[in-house]
Amino acid sequence: MAQKDIGNKTPLHELKTTEEVMKYYDEWSKNNKYNNDMFIWEYSGPRETSEILSKYQNNKDVKIYDAGCGSGLVGLELKKFGFSNFDGGDISKELLNQVPANLYNELDQVDLNKNILKHDDFYDVVICVGTFTFAHVKAHALDEFVRITKRNGLICFTINEAIYIDYGFKSKIESLVNNNKIKEIEFFKSNYLASKDVNAWLGLYKVL
Ligand SMILES: C[S@@+](CC[C@H](N)C(=O)[O-])C[C@H]1O[C@@H](n2cnc3c(N)ncnc32)[C@H](O)[C@@H]1O
Repeated sequence: MAQKDIGNKTPLHELKTTEEVMKYYDEWSKNNKYNNDMFIWEYSGPRETSEILSKYQNNKDVKIYDAGCGSGLVGLELKKFGFSNFDGGDISKELLNQVPANLYNELDQVDLNKNILKHDDFYDVVICVGTFTFAHVKAHALDEFVRITKRNGLICFTINEAIYIDYGFKSKIESLVNNNKIKEIEFFKSNYLASKDVNAWLGLYKVL
């Protein structure tokens, strides 16, 4: 698949290590540039994902983990759909510093390529938007999302279409489904960042 990209100063697909990704976002956060770019580029991932979650999650008090929350754009959308009980984690300290005050209950700097320091069955929902892309968070994180989510809870996430097969997300999801760990509720090609011709798969799964 061609490596479509967002045309930022360093193409995302040239990043190799977690350290490089962290610096990339710390830099991008300066002068509110990440938020401004996302607004100008009409980034729809946070809204689309929160909307699909809202469609299947009627109880708005559920406890949600926003994995790779960045500057809190997903939290802002979750709030618009009536959710209020959510934590977030991200590798970029600078983006975390830009999360609006009192939006999330808890915010932590985390590397989602490592085991997540949360108990089993801790959350009702894990949401992860924009974080499964080049050099970012690997497919193993889906095992962790399942582990920290309660039975009959939901995980919903986007995966950049350009890495879906090559980075092992397709096979990871198939394996989780075949082993009765998760059940597909929705899986479709979302608009995501259509203004930049970057699309993503959007999946919503029930944890079994
Ligand atoms: C495209 S941004 C999406 C941020 C936010 N979810 C949103 O929709 O605006 C990707 C996010 O993944 C985070 N990230 C990348 N690698 C990570 C890692 N290994 N652990 C945790 N977060 C990571 C970045 O810091 C960045 O905030």
